[in-house]
Amino acid sequence: MTMSVVGCGYLGAVHAASMASLGHRVVGLDIDANKIRSLESGTAPFFEPGLPELLLRDQENGSLEFSTDFHAAAEADLHFICVGTPQREGEHRANLDYVDAAFASIASVAKEGAVLVGKSTVPVGTAERLSREVAASRPDLTVAWNPEFLREGHAVEDTLRPDRLVYGVADPDAPSRAAELLDAVYASAIEAGTPRLVVNLPTAELVKTAANSFLATKISFVNAMAEMCEVSGANVTQLADAIGHDERIGRKFLNAGIGFGGGCLPKDIRAFSARAGELGAEEALTFLREIDLINMRRRSRAVEAMRQMAGGSLIGVTVGVLGTAFKPFSDDVRDSPALSIAQQLQLQGATVRVTDPEAVENSRRRFPELSYTDSMEAAVSDADIVAVLTEWTEYRSLTPADLEPHVRGRRVFDGRNVLDREAFASAGWTYQGVGR
Ligand code: UGA
Repeated sequence: MTMSVVGCGYLGAVHAASMASLGHRVVGLDIDANKIRSLESGTAPFFEPGLPELLLRDQENGSLEFSTDFHAAAEADLHFICVGTPQREGEHRANLDYVDAAFASIASVAKEGAVLVGKSTVPVGTAERLSREVAASRPDLTVAWNPEFLREGHAVEDTLRPDRLVYGVADPDAPSRAAELLDAVYASAIEAGTPRLVVNLPTAELVKTAANSFLATKISFVNAMAEMCEVSGANVTQLADAIGHDERIGRKFLNAGIGFGGGCLPKDIRAFSARAGELGAEEALTFLREIDLINMRRRSRAVEAMRQMAGGSLIGVTVGVLGTAFKPFSDDVRDSPALSIAQQLQLQGATVRVTDPEAVENSRRRFPELSYTDSMEAAVSDADIVAVLTEWTEYRSLTPADLEPHVRGRRVFDGRNVLDREAFASAGWTYQGVGR
């Protein structure tokens, strides 16, 4: 298949490289010339395991190219629109300016009969509106929606081996060119038995926001249980293990901690609520506001826990922060609970020394006032409190003996419940986890 991918950010760069690795001919388009240059040199503008190798290999064998000139997409049968839909400044609604511009640009160059496939996460109703707008100037083109469920840090694997394929088309009951072309694109996944659902356009849009809302709900649910555990003396990890054995509940996404962040879950639940309000169905999603509140409360409670550990004030206290990425295997600090906690500690008078295996540069750009280092030892040097805020593998296995030569005080805040609590407690440390 010959295809273009419009928008070479996280989603687009991964999609373009992964599709080319399946043997398709792909041109990746972006209006940002720096991003295109970086991708051409095989450098992804973000940390994603496996992506740089794919970028280089696909470009060397000629299956992948990048361009800022949309005319490079003129021969493509399919165009995947992968641009961002960030939260609008000062509002909860999604900003659709990039999506609208991408559809308009592609519609002006696409060849006769091409299919425009949206992958961006959009408010329900967007695809039908775009179909009408595209049809006004180019009735020969078709708009379809094919939401993406990739996780940062596993993005290539999730794209090549998705757990389901969802095609949103105008009439799911009739055979369509869009579904036929998408089947050809994903032939290897379909052969491997990946479930494939053909639905109408609003369903496809809702599938994506519903999935992220459900994941956010699971995390906030377990964090609410952590609050109950804290006031009752129960242990949230054991609670999650026990309820997780029930297949209807499942153990995944039930890890209590400092909550969810990143470029998707927080903004998606807010945009979803805002859209419900616009459609007159606000009541249906008022619970998502509570999910958001529970999540944001994790951050202030973590800061409060460390203030208590320090004896009531953070002024003059040194905190060594391990991890600022919103999750491991990522350098993304967008709405990262870890980085937000580090900043709040500093605002309350603590000296905050921060490290992360991949996210130091992005963190520094966001909050330059914190003290950054590339070394774990330097981050915890003379620390009164060590705070593990992102569960990178190297932090999970930390023992009291690893930290003792460097720290000043034997206090550890385990924001992801990953340390060996018994080992710290029996070595004379004050251990504080979340809900245990
Ligand atoms: C999320 C979804 O998981 C993907 O399916 C979706 O495609 C993507 O958003 C998107 O919309 O593009 P991602 O943002 O990469 O993926 O991150 P997750 O792995 O979902 O983690 C989100 C946050 O939840 C992280 O901050 C993580 O630390 C936190 N989390 C996760 C918990 O606090 N507890 C858990 O048990 C699991």
